[in-house]
Amino acid sequence: MDDRGVRRVMRRPLVVGNWKMNGTRRSSIELAEMIAKNFSSSSVECAVCPPAIFLSDVASALVGSEVCLGAQAVSQFEQGAYTGEVSADMLADFSCAYVLVGHSERRACFGETSNQVAAKFVAAQSKGLTPILCVGETLAERRGDRALEVIAEQLGAVVDAAGLKALSSAVVAYEPVWAIGTGEVASPAQAQEILAFIRARLGENAKAVRLLYGGSVNAENAAQLFGQQDIDGALVGGASLQAEQFLTICRLAEA
Ligand code: PGA
Repeated sequence: MDDRGVRRVMRRPLVVGNWKMNGTRRSSIELAEMIAKNFSSSSVECAVCPPAIFLSDVASALVGSEVCLGAQAVSQFEQGAYTGEVSADMLADFSCAYVLVGHSERRACFGETSNQVAAKFVAAQSKGLTPILCVGETLAERRGDRALEVIAEQLGAVVDAAGLKALSSAVVAYEPVWAIGTGEVASPAQAQEILAFIRARLGENAKAVRLLYGGSVNAENAAQLFGQQDIDGALVGGASLQAEQFLTICRLAEA
């Protein structure tokens, strides 16, 4: 087996659809059914993250398929007087396998700090969910040559709270803020540079940790990204709302 083959055995490629705050109950069920019916792979794992209110409907639509369910956000608190929040226990109860933590939209629009993100990471893992930790720099930070510093800080907060070993059973997604929803995808070399940096910081268990790239991934640019040494899949926003395109990206992760 060549180096790439060994890598694929250690780290099964993962493609995750982040539906964000889009769709209706009906359209979410239809999208889930389309993906469930047409996704089958012995080598790639696929998950979709619908809006929380549709988790139950989408879970039903995925029954009997190979597609996993994920959530877009989780509370750091276990239970109680936290109006509007959804706990890790509740997500596990709806058979979620994954949950996004630290998505840049949560950090920017809802003021989530790296320490809160770390607490959410711990809460998710404590209930058996696999956190997909999102990290990434803004355009100003990249232009100021601060991308690595920012990512080290975002990662460091989770390492401090959960310990390095906890990261080995999680997924980390590099999502440069300037590439999210903009159509301006990072170049494969840019993404690879940051993901290699992230892997180097994950210590001795890093070889088994799946690292994703996210930010304007589509059916046209996915193959080049997946060709990079440290890119084990993608976190897909806009393009995950079209079943055909999302399924194509999943297929490209197989190659
Ligand atoms: P995008 O979103 O693919 O629409 O850029 C990615 C994300 O926010 O996870």
